[in-house]
This record gives sequence, structure tokens and C-alpha cells, in this order.
Amino acid sequence: MAQLKVLLTGATGYVGGSVLSTLLASSNPLIQQLSITALVRKQQQADALLVKGVNAVVFRDLDDAEHLTSVASAHDVVIHAASGFHLGSATALIAGLGARRVETGASVHYIHTSGTWNLADSSPSQGTSPKEFSDKSDAYAHLKQLEAQTPFSQRTTLLEVVSASEREGVSAYILMPPDVYGCGTGLFNQDTMQLFHLIHSALKEGRPEYIVDDSGGAGHVHVEDLAALYEVILGRILAGEAVPVGRDGLFFTETGYHDWLDVSKAINDVGVRLDTWKTAEPVPIDIEDAAKKWTGGDLETLKNSFCLRNKTSPQLALEMGWKPLKTEDDWKSWIEETFEMVLEHGPEISSS
Ligand SMILES: NC(=O)c1ccc[n+]([C@@H]2O[C@H](COP(=O)([O-])OP(=O)(O)OC[C@H]3O[C@@H](n4cnc5c(N)ncnc54)[C@H](OP(=O)(O)O)[C@@H]3O)[C@@H](O)[C@H]2O)c1
Repeated sequence: MAQLKVLLTGATGYVGGSVLSTLLASSNPLIQQLSITALVRKQQQADALLVKGVNAVVFRDLDDAEHLTSVASAHDVVIHAASGFHLGSATALIAGLGARRVETGASVHYIHTSGTWNLADSSPSQGTSPKEFSDKSDAYAHLKQLEAQTPFSQRTTLLEVVSASEREGVSAYILMPPDVYGCGTGLFNQDTMQLFHLIHSALKEGRPEYIVDDSGGAGHVHVEDLAALYEVILGRILAGEAVPVGRDGLFFTETGYHDWLDVSKAINDVGVRLDTWKTAEPVPIDIEDAAKKWTGGDLETLKNSFCLRNKTSPQLALEMGWKPLKTEDDWKSWIEETFEMVLEHGPEISSS
């Protein structure tokens, strides 16, 4: 049988880089036999990946739809980890896989990276209790409903991934991580910035702050656990085992939940312990002030990052055999590690 070919986008990123390193280190013989191609934007990145046995191809960017379709049409599986927000690249990759299916008659698979911000609701917040969602309770119908009220680019893309994959006869699997934490295992970017920005702002102000009235919470998953879920799903696809697809194939990946006020308190405690400040409690600030300090004035990103209250139970992933290893202690240690990294290097510590 011809060697199966996987195409990966986002290999220089936090999520995609960690997925790539996980696949390269996989003990699954079916994954070890794959040919992996990564699309990157710089020749030196391609050179570094070639050394690792990855067929790296330099491309212009995600807007080059024609090229994406053409490259995807030479692959059996595409893992799109570059962006959950970019509609054109997702549909271009699915179109390429559709062409592959027509040409070879073999099944083709598309693994999409999205996120739980898709559950953002335009209605006013309902007290402090998080809303609980399961990926076995028709998350797709709920997202359709939310989208009809207020379009949101990452959700628009997810819904179109479902429609396009159905049209093209492509099996699509959509991962919806909440906040991803921990040190990435890829060769390039190993960080995600949310917590870094919060801690940097606390250090700049000389005190941790939280949003008065609208402070929310978020789920979290360690980046290594998340990458392991891509490996599990890919392994099942390659083994011909059942995996829910399309509108039934929306996978939540949350392994824990944090309240942002508690995170501010934890930041405060680390600062007191390291003798960075003497504050007893985090200080309340209003939402506009928080946006200025934490998200460069972007109020929508601020609200999605810090004001939602959704818990997403990953029942489908667990049924597929996913065994996340990280615990709440890992999350708490990550707050402390991030604090120390920001103290040492400032907020832009990315290794890319
Ligand atoms: N990080 C999280 O906490 C988190 C949580 C939930 C969901 N997600 C989802 O995961 C996606 C990826 O997140 P991440 O943290 O891995 O981001 P990241 O570290 O910034 O990585 C993004 C990757 O995509 C590539 N990329 C971005 N825009 C591109 C463009 N226009 N053309 C070509 N390549 C482009 C980057 O390539 P270059 O190196 O060339 O820039 C990089 O490889 C997000 O969009 C989101 O949908 C992330």
C-alpha cells in the first residue's frame, strides 16, 4: 500500500508545533509510517524541519487559497493548526482533499483547530456560575443558533468547515480547545500569550488586577495533552476505527477550569512570595481599562478571554481513548512558572 501522506499547517506555532513533535515521537506504528508535510513561511524554518524528517514546503500565507488546494490534493489527511479564524484557508484545504477523494476514490480526512470562544453568547452574563456544555449534546446546533444571533469569525469558520466537508465528501474532525497552557514542544513558538500579558501588566502596575463585575473564567488544557488528542484521533483514522465526523465530530478538550479572579489571587500570592510586591488582594478595574492593559484595547478579545463562563466536557475525546495526564497542580505551577519567565524575560519570550 502507498505511504499515506499528512499535511500540517501551523508547524511553527504553539499548537501546531506541539502536534508535529508529538506525531514525530509517536509510538503508534501507523503514525510512524506516515509521510508528513508542513507548510511554513520561511526557508530557515523549512530547513530546520527537513532535518527532523518533515517535508517542509515554503508557502506565501493562508490567503494563497489556490496553492493550499493544490498541496492538500496530494495528501490523505490535513491537520489545520495555523488558525481557527481563517475561513478561506480551511475551505481551500477541504477542497483539495475533496479533489483527492475524487481522483483516488480513497477516504480523506481533515482535522480542524478551533476553540471554545465559539460559545460566546451575546446575552448578558447570568451570575457567576459557569454554563456547562458537553460535546455529546449537539454542540453544532447550539453554535448555529449563536452564529445566527452574532457572527464570530472562528465560529463562522467552524460551521463552514462542517458544510464544506459534507459537500466535498471529506471526513472532518473539529477540536475546540479552551485556554491552552504549558510549554509547547515544537521547534519554534512555544508559548501562548494570555497569561503572559496578565502577569506582565501586574508587574507593570505593581499589583495584580481583575475585572470588576464582569470577571469570568475559562477552561484549560495542557498543550501536551491537547497534542496527544490529535495523535489519538489520527491513530484511530489510520486504524480504520470509528471517529465521529462533521456536525457530530466537534471535540471539546477541557481538563480543568479556572476563575480569573482566582488566577489574579494566585498571581498575587506568587508576587508576595517572591517579594515582588506586598499587596494583600488583587485590585478591581473596569472592563475598558482591562482591555487597554491586557489586549491592546481590543474589547472583543478581552471579553472572550476574561469574561466568559463556559465549561466544556470532553466526553467524545475520552470515549476515543484520550488520556490527558496533566492535573490542576500543573495548571497552578504554570502560573508560577509564567510569573518567573516574565520577571526574567518580559512578556515577549517566544522562542520563535
Ligand atoms: N493558543 C491557545 O491558547 C488556543 C486556544 C484555543 C484555540 N486555539 C486555536 O489554535 C489556533 C493556533 O493557535 P496557536 O497558539 O498555535 O498560534 P501561534 O502560536 O501564533 O501559531 C500560529 C501558526 O499559524 C501560522 N500562521 C498564522 N497566520 C498565518 C498566515 N496568515 N499565513 C501563514 N501561516 C500563518 C504561524 O506561522 P508563522 O510562524 O509563519 O507566523 C504559526 O505556525 C488559533 O488560531 C485558535 O483558533 C489556540
